[in-house]
Amino acid sequence: MSFPATRPRRLRATPVLRRMVRETSLAPDDFVYPMFVVHGRQVRREIKSMPGVYQLSVDQAVAEAREAAGLGIPALMLFGVPAVKDAVGSENFSEQGIVQQAVRAIKEALPELIIVADVCLCEYTDHGHCGIVRDGAIDNDATLEILQSAAVSYARAGADVVAPSGMMDGMVRAIRSALDAEGFVNVSILSYAIKYASAFYGPFREAAEGAPKFGDRKTHQMDPANAREAMRELALDIEEGADMVIVKPALPYLDVIRRVRDACQLPVAAYNVSGEYAMVKAAAANGWLDERAVVLELLTGIKRAGADLILTYHAKDAARWLRDELRV
Ligand code: PBG
Repeated sequence: MSFPATRPRRLRATPVLRRMVRETSLAPDDFVYPMFVVHGRQVRREIKSMPGVYQLSVDQAVAEAREAAGLGIPALMLFGVPAVKDAVGSENFSEQGIVQQAVRAIKEALPELIIVADVCLCEYTDHGHCGIVRDGAIDNDATLEILQSAAVSYARAGADVVAPSGMMDGMVRAIRSALDAEGFVNVSILSYAIKYASAFYGPFREAAEGAPKFGDRKTHQMDPANAREAMRELALDIEEGADMVIVKPALPYLDVIRRVRDACQLPVAAYNVSGEYAMVKAAAANGWLDERAVVLELLTGIKRAGADLILTYHAKDAARWLRDELRV
């Protein structure tokens, strides 16, 4: 039957009717909140290109974690800004590393909150690359050993999940075997399985102080033009033992999120990255966009594309907005 008997507008008539037939719902449970931790005390330094996001010392990170947990957000993702950078990124696997300190402090204050530790070298190395550099190129296999030490070190500090983000071949298998060998069989791996060489990471590199000093990341991160290749990366990471996978960034890659969701049984996370956040904040600050409406729309779009989880700097605001939505 067609018009006039069929009228799709009937089911759009009121807010409650629309809620009743809504296909995709968003909840604080969907969010993972990324945070940047730095050495020092009482440090709360706003990142210029990411208004509302701060570099936090451990005491402040605990307070921030408490606020996020209070809003119903189940998990944090931690990135560290080390005191000293060197060729191998030593602070990445030091017991006194800033992420290790933050994990211990947050776990002590909020034992139930899930802590994900990002595992990559770029914030920790003096050259800003995601691996050990030899003759101007990243040595994949030498890098795996460092990633193993870092993952074990985060697990020892109390991280529930480790998230390798460096796009090294074999990183998931290497980390799984190192964790198991140390008895951390229950620490899971959230792999950045499909990470594109994106210009949308710009603000993050200010936040985490991890921009490459020469060259770029195109020899390991994926070409934005490729979607079939994403299926290859996905298959490899599943085979190597990933528990969950990330597609990153989110908004220019919604088709990839959908393909990944349809191709596997693992939880799929999408990373709504720093540049995506910065665009919204800049437009909202100018009065060009309604921040709340735009953020809820884009997060719903990422969920509708197939993401089970969304890593997003909007997490606290979105959780608050969702809580404040009218109920009948
Ligand atoms: C690497 C890492 C990056 C991001 C998360 N992990 C930066 C990069 O690959 O250059 C970017 C996240 C964002 O832009 O929000 N450790």
